[in-house]
Amino acid sequence: MGCSSIMMMMLTCFLIFVSTVSSSAPLTVGFYKRSCPPAEAIVQKHVNKFASRNPGLAAGLIRLHFHDCFVRGCDASVLLDGPASEKESIPNKGSLRGFEVIDAAKAELERRCPSTVSCEDALAFAARDSAAKLGNIRYPVPLGRRDGRVSSVTEPLLSLLAPFFNATSLRDNFAAKGLSLDEMVTLSGAHSVGISHCSSITSRLYPATDPLLDPKFAALLKKKCPPPPPQKNNTPSSTVDLDSITPYCLDNKFYVGLRANRGVLATDQVLQSSPLMAKLVAENARNNGLWGKKFAAAMVKMGGIEVLTGKKGEIRKKCRFVN
Ligand code: HEM
Ligand SMILES: *[C@@H]1O[C@H](CO)[C@@H](O)[C@H](O)[C@H]1NC(C)=O
Repeated sequence: MGCSSIMMMMLTCFLIFVSTVSSSAPLTVGFYKRSCPPAEAIVQKHVNKFASRNPGLAAGLIRLHFHDCFVRGCDASVLLDGPASEKESIPNKGSLRGFEVIDAAKAELERRCPSTVSCEDALAFAARDSAAKLGNIRYPVPLGRRDGRVSSVTEPLLSLLAPFFNATSLRDNFAAKGLSLDEMVTLSGAHSVGISHCSSITSRLYPATDPLLDPKFAALLKKKCPPPPPQKNNTPSSTVDLDSITPYCLDNKFYVGLRANRGVLATDQVLQSSPLMAKLVAENARNNGLWGKKFAAAMVKMGGIEVLTGKKGEIRKKCRFVN
């Protein structure tokens, strides 16, 4: 696939800074070293197996981790089934993917080390292994998160970002989770892989074309995403690649596309809307290695949002159900 290669092993001492906002016990690298030595390898095996068949699942796992962490903190609440669970809310329903990878990994984890590795830590591993698979981005994952018992269909609407948010709302939303503007711009680089459903972008195309879009690119998007209903036979499940340059590589080409006004989501385009953000975008577009390092660090920080540790929460046996 020709993804450019970033090899990095960040020093573990860096991770000492990763503490958590709302809990006493900090996350630690190597948390399962004694209690479940094969934990990391088990998750990685399943991610590689699924992602080799369908690389989109790796993109899905990175997004799953983000959508989990921004709602009730990183507590695997997004994995819970139920008619009124997070999965069923508008930002998630029909577009989150990768659940089957976590199910498979967790089933083996339970066989090898019963009730030991949390679903949330499995998801944090899986997101990291996906970044390795798609972009050769590697980093140690601090562990020790426990799983929550609550998942609410309404909360994602309050905590997640919609594709029509402006710069201020995006910034405020990330700031509320302790993430800086730089980290927001950096993490948005996850849109260098994966897809968007047409429904997320039709308002940029119809009735009028967003003047911020490169006209040639807009024409291409319109071809892939025909006008929405009332026309018949509309295909709401049609999708477009979020990064038109290297759709399967987790790399900085997303930022190169942005600078050419080829950002697919309106919120991606927004990253060009202030001089400060535009400068960060330009920096990332120039230097894949630097962006990759910042991405790894920001993923680690995101993975520490409002985590449950110590005696809080539980180690779920099945990720779709509380014990
Ligand atoms: C800045 C705010 C963000 C907004 C408004 C946003 C919005 C979206 C939207 C609308 C989609 C397309 C969903 C669909 O229609 O199928 C998407 C996809 C995706 N997002 Fe974000 N996102 C944001 C930040 C992030 C972050 C921080 C990450 C991860 C670190 C991320 C990872 C992804 C990935 C990997 C996909 C592709 C998923 C797939 O192919 O299954 N996004 N995002
Ligand atoms: C951004 O959106 C928020 C919420 O919709 C709104 O209150 C605010 O005025 C908007 N800011 C700008 C600069 O448009």
